[in-house]
Amino acid sequence: MTDFEHIEIEEKPDGIAVLTINRPDQLNALDADVLSQLCAVTQQLGEDQDLRAVILTGAGRAFVAGADIAAMKDMSDDEAAAFGRQGHQTMNAIEDLAVPTIAAVNGFALGGGLELALSCDLIYLSERARVGLPEVGLGIIPGFGGTQRLGRRIGWQQARRLVFTGDTLSADEAQQIGLAIDVFSGEDLIDEVVEVASTIAQQGPVAVRQAKKVMSQGAHLPVREANELEIDAFAELWNTNDRFEGMEAFLEKRSPDFAGK
Ligand code: COA
Repeated sequence: MTDFEHIEIEEKPDGIAVLTINRPDQLNALDADVLSQLCAVTQQLGEDQDLRAVILTGAGRAFVAGADIAAMKDMSDDEAAAFGRQGHQTMNAIEDLAVPTIAAVNGFALGGGLELALSCDLIYLSERARVGLPEVGLGIIPGFGGTQRLGRRIGWQQARRLVFTGDTLSADEAQQIGLAIDVFSGEDLIDEVVEVASTIAQQGPVAVRQAKKVMSQGAHLPVREANELEIDAFAELWNTNDRFEGMEAFLEKRSPDFAGK
């Protein structure tokens, strides 16, 4: 795996990768370099057939405090459009990873930071986290998917409130409105999230990938059309070793030993 200046990659057992955005002096703000490194790491991970889950977190006291305001300040409108597009490409690449992704939000997740968390399948927060989309306070709007992904995650009324007011929420407030699954102490966050990833990694790997694909694609379709995806994926799994092993192990009252094919 290539080394990246602003992204640390730690490979945990069972095919779990932990990505840490590492630009702590700027609270891990996303500039073009960080975005392109995130995109490159994601592409590399996407080629790893043994990968089971990816965890995203931030170095220091922030997850990501947003897009880099200093870098954006003097951009022309064309440059802003290109930067926005690059942000979207990066979030899409993370969203499109075939395996489950988990945001371990260790501190500030503002603007592009919350948008990054929203491109992950699951969000867990440290009790120190503060989350929000404060862009209107800078005279702009969320530009890396926040106006679209937040409402789809927590409902449009709360999303509109957060976008229109720019309010930031404590971890408990964010959990109450369904933005996060759970809140842990700062020291426990990564261990707890690795535990979730390990549980995922013990399931049938092909089944987990298919489940993610069907749920992601189906979310954008009418339910009856989405159900057709489920029917096809359900049947496709029939001819996998994992399906045979999973059912045989159950009937033999032992743990399955999945080959991931
Ligand atoms: N872009 C660029 N630099 C940022 C940044 C961002 N989004 N967020 C923080 N930084 C930098 C600060 O400029 C500061 O740099 P400096 O030490 O060179 O002055 C450093 O990170 C530490 O931030 P600071 O503001 O001093 O920390 P704080 O604890 O007082 O406040 C925040 C933390 C997160 C509340 C505050 O930094 C903030 O509001 N950041 C911007 C959030 C935002 O609007 N995000 C959306 C951007 S579109």
